[in-house]
Amino acid sequence: MSQTILITGWCWFIGSNFLNRYVPRYPDITWINLDALTYAGKQTNILPDIQLSQNYIFVQCDIRDINAVRKVYETYPITDCIHFAAESHVDNSIKNPTLFLETNIIGTANLLNCHRDFGCKRFHYISTDEVYGDLPLDRPDIKFLYDTPLHPHSPYSTSKAGGDMLVQAYGRTYGLDYTISRCSNNYGPNQDVEKLIPRSISLLQSGQQIQIYGKGENVRDWIHVDDHNDGVWTIFTKAPSWSIYNLGGNNEKTNNEIAQLLCHLMQKNPTDWITYVTDRPGHDRRYAIDYSKTTQDLGREPKIVFEKGLEETVKWYTT
Ligand SMILES: NC(=O)c1ccc[n+]([C@@H]2O[C@H](COP(=O)([O-])OP(=O)(O)OC[C@H]3O[C@@H](n4cnc5c(N)ncnc54)[C@H](O)[C@@H]3O)[C@@H](O)[C@H]2O)c1
Repeated sequence: MSQTILITGWCWFIGSNFLNRYVPRYPDITWINLDALTYAGKQTNILPDIQLSQNYIFVQCDIRDINAVRKVYETYPITDCIHFAAESHVDNSIKNPTLFLETNIIGTANLLNCHRDFGCKRFHYISTDEVYGDLPLDRPDIKFLYDTPLHPHSPYSTSKAGGDMLVQAYGRTYGLDYTISRCSNNYGPNQDVEKLIPRSISLLQSGQQIQIYGKGENVRDWIHVDDHNDGVWTIFTKAPSWSIYNLGGNNEKTNNEIAQLLCHLMQKNPTDWITYVTDRPGHDRRYAIDYSKTTQDLGREPKIVFEKGLEETVKWYTT
């Protein structure tokens, strides 16, 4: 039977990178691309050749609308789903938590209900390391494992954890075949300027200082978006049913280190070009993810060296 994969949330950062990498490699798969085109969705992020491909269909649809989602499942012979679509910015979730619950939990439930009712196969959920909560700054020896209990802190991470647990509940209750990937912070081309790296590049480019929350000591593990998506594809195609895998870059950096690296790449003196602003409420201290199970079971390792990836990212935004 031929494969028709529904990809949600394809139009902006991670989803568009996924399609640009995988549609050309798999011409026998029909790719249905579902996106509401929120402020974070832009069709032009999909390469023109892909937009013209015979095996590629775009559907504008809001996953919060169950009737619209059901219509997509009625119209196309969907076999599998890779679910990227989400409200994804922590600061926005602090301003409007309800939107995050509607999109990330109810929207996920709408897709799961259709996936179950139409007897589809695999459902892959794009989760995040933020569902685990955070780690103390003075314990560099500990990391999140795939079976670390979920303990999210922000409205964003709580809504993602809600989606994550709902997927597991549908596996247990209805036997729905799922896989889940929990990935660390992504960087690369096409990311919205609301996120730390593109925002900082954009500020420097327009002659303004990089703004860092609090003291800049918060730690994130950065992974290139290509490595994230190659990990997603490996898990989606190779992992056993009902399994959860972590994806990380083995590349922990404080926000201060990121700001300094960006100043260096853009030939600015960090002393003059970094300023500190009021901290984000409830700001998670450190994320660090142990992805050794992914490497052991599936042979998956990130490939892109951070300093090189960041240099190329700066070039992409500035030229
Ligand atoms: N960015 C990261 O560092 C990171 C890390 C780990 C996991 N994730 C997860 O990866 C996924 C993609 O993240 P991103 O950074 O590309 O997000 P993004 O905000 O850049 O893009 C989200 C996409 O979802 C679409 N969307 C939003 N609400 C929708 C709705 N109601 N119906 C249909 N489409 C809708 C938007 O139009 C957009 O195309 C998310 O699930 C996010 O939680 C992101």
